Amino acid sequence: MSFSVFRFPFPDQMTLEKRIADLEALREKRLEGGGAERIERQHAEGKLTAHERVTLLLDPGSFLELDPFVVHRCRDFGMEKTSIPGDGVVCGAGTIAGRPVYVFAQDFTVFGGSLSESNADKICKVMDLAVQNGAPIIGLNDSGGARIQEGVVSLAGYSKVFLRNTRASGVVPQISAILGPCAGGAVYSPAITDFVFMTEKTSYLFVTGPDVIRTVTHEEVTKEDLGGSRTHSSVSGVAHFVRGSDEAVLAGIRELLSYLPGNHLDDPPVRAPRDAPAGTDLNVFIPEEPNRPYDMAELVRRIADAGEFFEVHAAFARNILVGFIRLHGRCVGVVANQPMHLAGVLDIDASIKGARFVRFCDAFGIPLLVFEDVPGFLPGTQQEYGGIIRHGAKLLYAFAEATVPKVSVITRKAYGGAYCVMLSKDLGTDFNFAFPTAEIAVMGPEGAVNILYRRELPADAAPETRAGKVAEYKANFANPYIAARRGYVDDIIEPSETRTRLIAAFQFLEGKRAAMPKKKHGNIPL
Ligand code: HXC
Repeated sequence: MSFSVFRFPFPDQMTLEKRIADLEALREKRLEGGGAERIERQHAEGKLTAHERVTLLLDPGSFLELDPFVVHRCRDFGMEKTSIPGDGVVCGAGTIAGRPVYVFAQDFTVFGGSLSESNADKICKVMDLAVQNGAPIIGLNDSGGARIQEGVVSLAGYSKVFLRNTRASGVVPQISAILGPCAGGAVYSPAITDFVFMTEKTSYLFVTGPDVIRTVTHEEVTKEDLGGSRTHSSVSGVAHFVRGSDEAVLAGIRELLSYLPGNHLDDPPVRAPRDAPAGTDLNVFIPEEPNRPYDMAELVRRIADAGEFFEVHAAFARNILVGFIRLHGRCVGVVANQPMHLAGVLDIDASIKGARFVRFCDAFGIPLLVFEDVPGFLPGTQQEYGGIIRHGAKLLYAFAEATVPKVSVITRKAYGGAYCVMLSKDLGTDFNFAFPTAEIAVMGPEGAVNILYRRELPADAAPETRAGKVAEYKANFANPYIAARRGYVDDIIEPSETRTRLIAAFQFLEGKRAAMPKKKHGNIPL
């Protein structure tokens, strides 16, 4: 199967009518991409074409396509005999829920969606327009990487795109959808963007594929295990969202955008306030036994408008939850320990997940809300050798650096360094609340008694003596009152009044103006 040769009409002595007819024919032709057979293959694999994706993503009729007639400039490997209008990427502007966005969609039916010089120039054009006009950039990726026939010209194209991704970071939201194979250079642009969606079964991301790996390291691995959606959403953390189909990914992007401002100078969109769902009283939600798990995601839903929690990175580092809710119509970024997984402990992945989300919210003026129930950092050689010190410091740094309104609620455990990290008062938090069930201490009772009474309580000490010491420690620290007496928590609240208190707190913080000391940029422990 070969690509068709695309020629522009020769306009000599044409009537206006003929010229318009030619334009219409060309416009139709651009929808053909790499031809009917390749489109059929795309559909047979459960994938949409680039044009179909853009149409579904944007508000009906809003797409303003740019550069549909651009062709590649390669004259090697017989490429001069082949050209397709648009050269394998559909670019332009449109609206989502009436708000402007810029989009590029790679067309796998044209040279495998590979990146050529012209193709990169088209992508860069929409990225520049997005930044200039303060609108999100959405990339729909489906690409075999650098166009092999173009060599260094194609690699240079990637560098241009990466430069723009980096410069746009923190200026406008950048969202990537991985909707097919994305190999080589095609992985790094999505990696720089703020959010990555993947489709189940039809999308892959890898720097080098299974064949190269077999040759170099003699490892056998399938495409799915190496770079499929499950791997990237739950193991590597590269993907934030997985959906079952192209259509579901596109709907997911629209939903995500409903929480985000168009750029770092705009406010996030405000919706009409909706009540939280009626349900069991939160006063009986936290279990009385301090080690019994409960679902923090459920607590978040119970205080959110209409019970909606748009969770980000749901399958990765499940011991911490991050995502967006609305409180009285206004978007809030939530970071919460999840006692259902590893008792809500902080580890390397949880710290990285939390830090990246906090930095996104701070960059785009989205207030931060923390629910804290954390027994500490995960102990062990795996974590220490893996660099929990520098990774844990990322979360600490991100919270400390954030200048948006910051509110925390300690629901139960707030132990040790993890207390400091999770928006403690002295990390610059605006309002700190605690439930009466809060326990705030340097460490849990058992560990503390072992250290404090090492001499008095030998291994064979009577269990009642140890229990007495544990009870004494708990009486002192397993409550929020010592912290409240010193102003480390601003108030102790009933769980049932959480939503009302939080709505009021964020309203009082709406006028917050805070800034970091002037500098080029900080040096977050990467
Ligand atoms: C030109 C490409 C291409 C590429 C695919 N095609 N990748 N053309 N440059 N990079 C073409 C194929 O020739 C084929 O053309 C069509 O796209 C579909 O490809 P298939 O192989 O038939 O599809 P599939 O079996 O689904 O496999 C998809 C794939 C595979 C896994 C992506 O094509 C592949 O491995 N491609 C090469 C990936 C790669 O190594 N890229 C370069 C990475 S280096 P026809 O005419 O048959 O339809 C890189 C460096 C940048 O990107 C670094 C920057 C940091």
